[in-house]
Amino acid sequence: MAVRFVVQTGDPVLRQVCEPVKNFNKELWALLDDMKSTVRAESGAGLAAPQIGVPVRAVVIDVEEGFFELINPVIISCKGEQRGPEGCLSVKGKQGTVVRPQKVKAEYRDRHGKKHKLTAEGFFARAVCHELDHLDGKLYIDVAEEVYDLPPEE
Ligand code: NI
Repeated sequence: MAVRFVVQTGDPVLRQVCEPVKNFNKELWALLDDMKSTVRAESGAGLAAPQIGVPVRAVVIDVEEGFFELINPVIISCKGEQRGPEGCLSVKGKQGTVVRPQKVKAEYRDRHGKKHKLTAEGFFARAVCHELDHLDGKLYIDVAEEVYDLPPEE
């Protein structure tokens, strides 16, 4: 498992519509392992494969509810609305105010290709929406009501 470089906004890989994963093999597992190392090293809530330069439909999410690997994920229903702060490891030093659904249901495959469903609420739902947007080349700064600078890190 290796910590990978996180590409920053302006890099065209962040604007691609990513390809579905077809092979649930060791190459995918190595990618997911690197994504886990990277999101933890960066203290992020999630990371999408294009953020480490690989335009395929895979994300990891690391929240209170647990650590999730979502391959070829699709949101199948949304409910309610929440407005709150959001950041991105590919948009360093900034945060924005983003409206997201309060609750989402999604279908996805695990690293072995098995189908699953999940229900996410609150911050978890926000993370799911944010990471899935990355797979379609979208960033939160495209939809934020406002984007502001964070104070410099100590
Ligand atoms: Ni992001």
